[in-house]
Amino acid sequence: MPGISATWALVLPTRQVPKSARKLMSAKGQVPVCRIISMYLAQGKLLSTTPVPFLFKMQKPAFPYGLAGIGARGTSLMSNSRQTPLTGQVGVITGAGSGIGAAIARRLAELGAVAVVCGRSRTTLEATAQSIQKAGGNAEVAPCDVTDLAAVEAIARHVERKFERLDVLVNNAGVGGFGMPLHTLPPDSWDLVLNTNLRGVYYSIRSFAPIMIRARSGHIVNISSIAGKNALPNGAAYAASKWGLNGLTYSVAEELRAHHIRVSVICPGSTHTELSPHAGKDPGKMLQPEDVAHVVEMLVTQKAQSFASEVILRPTQKP
Ligand SMILES: NC(=O)c1ccc[n+]([C@@H]2O[C@H](COP(=O)([O-])OP(=O)(O)OC[C@H]3O[C@@H](n4cnc5c(N)ncnc54)[C@H](OP(=O)(O)O)[C@@H]3O)[C@@H](O)[C@H]2O)c1
Repeated sequence: MPGISATWALVLPTRQVPKSARKLMSAKGQVPVCRIISMYLAQGKLLSTTPVPFLFKMQKPAFPYGLAGIGARGTSLMSNSRQTPLTGQVGVITGAGSGIGAAIARRLAELGAVAVVCGRSRTTLEATAQSIQKAGGNAEVAPCDVTDLAAVEAIARHVERKFERLDVLVNNAGVGGFGMPLHTLPPDSWDLVLNTNLRGVYYSIRSFAPIMIRARSGHIVNISSIAGKNALPNGAAYAASKWGLNGLTYSVAEELRAHHIRVSVICPGSTHTELSPHAGKDPGKMLQPEDVAHVVEMLVTQKAQSFASEVILRPTQKP
């Protein structure tokens, strides 16, 4: 028998997998994503009504990531296309028009999610979306300023109406604020940094978390900085915003844990993007945006029982 890839299957949501099958699969380290009612050969001939655990074992070689593609509501048909861990899921990424956010959006789309890309500039968001679509992924452009609560709420309503789910929220939008001691920093600059890097994350969680709470699942990943762990002379407002973001993350993680939502923070060191001045640093040694995207991938593909709450990401060698 060629394996499940030569077939299609009728599937139902996890809650309808029988308890006995769930127990057996859990003992084998498998996660019951859906229940397979019947399997058919491509020509439509009934192949099997084999018990669920056996089918999962059998399909492993054909789908290295296992079955994951199921819509928000009930039954769906699975094609024989390669399944990826986030197939059928939806991710919102703020600040996705450039740098780290664009790399995260591309990675989530490669993993199978629809990437809803947010930021202020439609042009750069469209460039990110096009690169995702060119690679065969799904992206949706959603221009939005994270400092504008009404705008963020409008995107959240749109996501819930259109997709009926939100699985991953990456709060990445941020601005730098370097180059002078705090006592000379204009109040407008302070407001811009704090309103984007900290208040923006509050607005985003306030708007999107209820969708996850209703679904009793989801990942929120906040992109902080190693500046949220250390002193940053001539960048005190930026450091304050990221220290604040870390405290916000730890606290919200505890608030949402009971709802089966994991809230994590990544603190990257110097990353090769346009955000910060990297004069005198060797770009070859700096982190690349894709390195941060890789950590997001690790976080959102953890087993259901595992919660890595914080990652400090350093370049292997000091740039
Ligand atoms: N690069 C580093 O060394 C480094 C290290 C640690 C952490 N980080 C963090 O990583 C995140 C991404 O930074 P990056 O390095 O990738 O820089 P970047 O290329 O400048 O990306 C920042 C993104 O945020 C968006 N943005 C800024 N203000 C926004 C707002 N009010 N609403 C919505 N989107 C907004 C920008 O797009 P628009 O201008 O179009 O809105 C831009 O796409 C930031 O939170 C940053 O603090 C960076």
